Amino acid sequence: MPMSETEYLVCGIGDVPVNAIRRFEVGGRAIALYNIDGRLYATDDTCTHGLSSLSAGELDGDVVECSLHFGAFHVPTGKPVGAPCSVPLQVYRTEVKDGEVRIFQNPIKESQS
Ligand code: FES
Repeated sequence: MPMSETEYLVCGIGDVPVNAIRRFEVGGRAIALYNIDGRLYATDDTCTHGLSSLSAGELDGDVVECSLHFGAFHVPTGKPVGAPCSVPLQVYRTEVKDGEVRIFQNPIKESQS
């Protein structure tokens, strides 16, 4: 029973500098928006290990390191890549249109491959 996506206008393209993370409230959720070498990605902002905000973490290429216990996630897929994180991060489809950044919820489901 697929559900349709809900589109949210988040910010302007210039609001997230290259290789930075910004936090936004979108549809009642805290979302981290990442600009990785000019490509935008969105995930839940709350780390799956604890209650830390990933937008306060560090980007290293396409990996975000949580500032609380230094666990890490691959941003494009949400997969945990550094202990103690073991639960994938929810990721969201993004789109840039007319200089505006939009994200789409329902969340993208992770493949198991
Ligand atoms: S809260 Fe993020 S690694 Fe523990």
